[in-house]
Amino acid sequence: MVEDVVCPYLSVRGSANRGAATDCGCDEDGRETARPTAADAVKAERKRARDRTHESGRCDRFYVARAPCFAMDILTDETRRFLAATAPEHDAVQAEMATYADEHGFPIIGPEAGGVLRVLAHLADAKRLFEFGSGFGYSATWFAEGMADDAELYLTEHDAHELDMARDFLDRAGLADRTTFLEGDALDLFEGVDGEFDLVLLDHQKHRYAEAFDLVADRVTEGGVVVADNVMRGPVDFGALTDWSEGKAEALDGADADTRGIAAFLDAVRADPRYETIVLPVGSGLAVSTRVE
Ligand SMILES: C[S@@+](CC[C@H](N)C(=O)[O-])C[C@H]1O[C@@H](n2cnc3c(N)ncnc32)[C@H](O)[C@@H]1O
Repeated sequence: MVEDVVCPYLSVRGSANRGAATDCGCDEDGRETARPTAADAVKAERKRARDRTHESGRCDRFYVARAPCFAMDILTDETRRFLAATAPEHDAVQAEMATYADEHGFPIIGPEAGGVLRVLAHLADAKRLFEFGSGFGYSATWFAEGMADDAELYLTEHDAHELDMARDFLDRAGLADRTTFLEGDALDLFEGVDGEFDLVLLDHQKHRYAEAFDLVADRVTEGGVVVADNVMRGPVDFGALTDWSEGKAEALDGADADTRGIAAFLDAVRADPRYETIVLPVGSGLAVSTRVE
């Protein structure tokens, strides 16, 4: 039994790796138990590469020890360095949050993706923003920097401790008066709040992105944006998603729930004629969908 492993993407605290077959596909030693697809040498090599990445400690700060790790590099080293060097800088509170994330293996979006959220908030002249899965508020600080002065920002988080931390950080950043902190399941909470939103961030359980999009699609303003994190990296198998995106549906056979969830979300948002979607290979891969009608 592994008590100290946290699987933030799956929102399973302390029990992520207990038992033989959990949602996150870990066995009791924290190893993946997903069924290998027969004789798929490419897939096996991919897995070995992931394991090497994980064991070498290059899986960034996104996963704590022995949580399932699909942290394949999606960029060349040079591109990653360039993006990091040209990313916006943290202010003092954000720097503190990033340090906390580093020390605790907590998956924040990081400054490159944060900069995208800030730009989008500016461009959309965002007055109402809603986050699905806020953690301790890091992504929210980027939204807040770009949103209108009289904007309302809704954070959702089902971990009470993280939400308390978000309250504290955003208070110290001078943002708490424009922020509503909601504790519980983000999808239920969204249904409990009326009105339209200019910007929505999906960063909760990946296997529930399509469900969340179904809820928000009608309630995004024209010109508004839905951003989904982790469409290329994080608890997803990017190799399988790439094959799937090129028409090989069987690539998802035996894939984990989060990888299939990202595929289902991309299918849903790209099939909706009201939205135009692009994917940016920034951070963990952002799908940016703007409502055009
Ligand atoms: C990737 S972290 C969020 C990071 C945050 N957006 C940032 O970049 O600073 C995902 C968070 O979503 C929370 N979460 C996952 N599913 C959720 C759900 N259905 N409702 C509320 N919170 C959820 C987890 O507890 C975790 O804190």
